[in-house]
Amino acid sequence: MRRRVIAGNWKMYKTIADTRAFFAAFSPMVADANYCDIVVAPPFPSIAAAVESTRNTKISIAGQNVYWEKEGAFTGEVSPAMLKQAGCRYVIIGHSERRQIFGETDEMVAKKTKAALAAGLTPIVCVGETLAEREAGHTERVCEAQLSNGPGALTAEEFSRILMAYEPVWAIGTGRTATPEIAAASHRYLRQCVARRFSPELAATLRILYGGSVKPDNIQGLMAQEELDGALVGGASLDAKSFASIVSGAM
Ligand code: 13P
Repeated sequence: MRRRVIAGNWKMYKTIADTRAFFAAFSPMVADANYCDIVVAPPFPSIAAAVESTRNTKISIAGQNVYWEKEGAFTGEVSPAMLKQAGCRYVIIGHSERRQIFGETDEMVAKKTKAALAAGLTPIVCVGETLAEREAGHTERVCEAQLSNGPGALTAEEFSRILMAYEPVWAIGTGRTATPEIAAASHRYLRQCVARRFSPELAATLRILYGGSVKPDNIQGLMAQEELDGALVGGASLDAKSFASIVSGAM
């Protein structure tokens, strides 16, 4: 049985004050949610406030990005050890916004994932096709390439320590959620790729989150698919009540 994960990706939203106010409201709402792991990824400057606000809770904090070097002249970047020391347990890697706006490649995703693992972080590696790729019938090909050129470069032992997120780009921030069946088909396909690249055992234990317009009113339908091991939530994770209701929907 794969334990579910509900993760919130705040993207470039929430100051330190917003972060404190969010957790003051959110933490009590999910205090009894023992059935899943809860993760929140604030922007870098709000990580310390998030870690402090969630100290005596089961909520874990994630970075939204990381660089692969330990330190050096890399203006604007942060290292895995810096995130770890700041109190992060997870880090999102290869989000489609990083790929599309900031030019991240599968090779960069692979390097970031290895470095994050070496520092003791749990990477949440994102893959997913664009609308044009889906309409051209290339969904499987794109997901397979992102998987094999990204986390496919890990050793089996390393791979056993990552989570993946399937986020079809056409469903992100558009209100156009993938149907539970469409999401499940992609998750099943990714699992087949993992079985081929690594082993059926690793494919069976890998947790794959779905992301793309997850809301309180569609989480239960999505979670009814046994292929979906949780959700990576953008917009609906910014409001304490709405994110808490998504956590309840994962019961
Ligand atoms: P939305 O939930 O706002 O569609 O964003 C999804 C996402 O990109 C999470 O990483």
